[in-house]
Amino acid sequence: MSRIVYVNGNYVPENEATVSVFDRGFVMADAIYEVTAVMDGKMIEFDGHMARMQRSLDELGIAYKVDYDEMLAIHREMITRNNLVSGGIYIQITRGNPGDRDFLFEDGDAISPTIVLFTQEKPDPRNNSNMESGWHVMTMDDLRWHRRDIKTVQLLWPSLAKTAAIRSGFDDTWMVENGTITEGTSNNAYIIKDGVIITRQLSHDILHGITRASLLRYAKDRQMTIEERPFTVDEVKAADEAFVTSASTYVTPIISIDGVNIGDGAPGKHALELRQVYIEESLKAAI
Ligand code: PDD
Repeated sequence: MSRIVYVNGNYVPENEATVSVFDRGFVMADAIYEVTAVMDGKMIEFDGHMARMQRSLDELGIAYKVDYDEMLAIHREMITRNNLVSGGIYIQITRGNPGDRDFLFEDGDAISPTIVLFTQEKPDPRNNSNMESGWHVMTMDDLRWHRRDIKTVQLLWPSLAKTAAIRSGFDDTWMVENGTITEGTSNNAYIIKDGVIITRQLSHDILHGITRASLLRYAKDRQMTIEERPFTVDEVKAADEAFVTSASTYVTPIISIDGVNIGDGAPGKHALELRQVYIEESLKAAI
């Protein structure tokens, strides 16, 4: 089935959509994006994604003010036009097309941003056994730039790292910098030791996950202790449990790292419980 995508105000069949070859998103990766999960035809954490999108735009000086109501209407229209029940909505905003390739760009609103949305169908997380049975991860150096808090489309290193993982028989890669884990290729990383959840603190080192913020809130509500600090690969190997969070994985257990089992090598009980809590709570608030 051909999807209907959104390009600069128009809803068009995917094979009719066009963006200029001079668009800075294409030649400079000068663009930001968001992925909002959809379950039962409703969006999960939409407000958080829109707030982070505005922050990413502001950090790069892309002159675009997110109109919440307009964005909500466009996202909902995309769900309707594509009959999306389970999956995600991708939105990308680039600095736009200055008419030529040039490292220098004009300030402010001299260029009009390009806005593109498309939908992706994915299995319902409630019947996705791949995510409940847990992932095996490998490690690689984190060679990304140092503003990972901005959700840019500079995804070459994460894409190479994900591909390396799959080709070597793993499910994902956890990236390592100065001996500690930063994140998964497109998710935030956590371990649990003696009932304490350990996850890297917010900084320019990692994306400030929308799922992460809610997950930590739900964990606190359940009287779990949280330590926000970097952790080493050895700590992962000695942990009782590990898991990742994102709009596409929700909460997914990690059961081994570089071939070493974490805990008993099965999905941890806290990870599975938090997965269920996250899905239930976020569905209640879905719009
Ligand atoms: N990725 N860290 C990175 C590097 C990510 O790319 C993502 C999300 C996350 C989790 O953020 P959130 O909980 O807000 O989805 C952490 C999306 C899903 C993607 O690129 O497809």
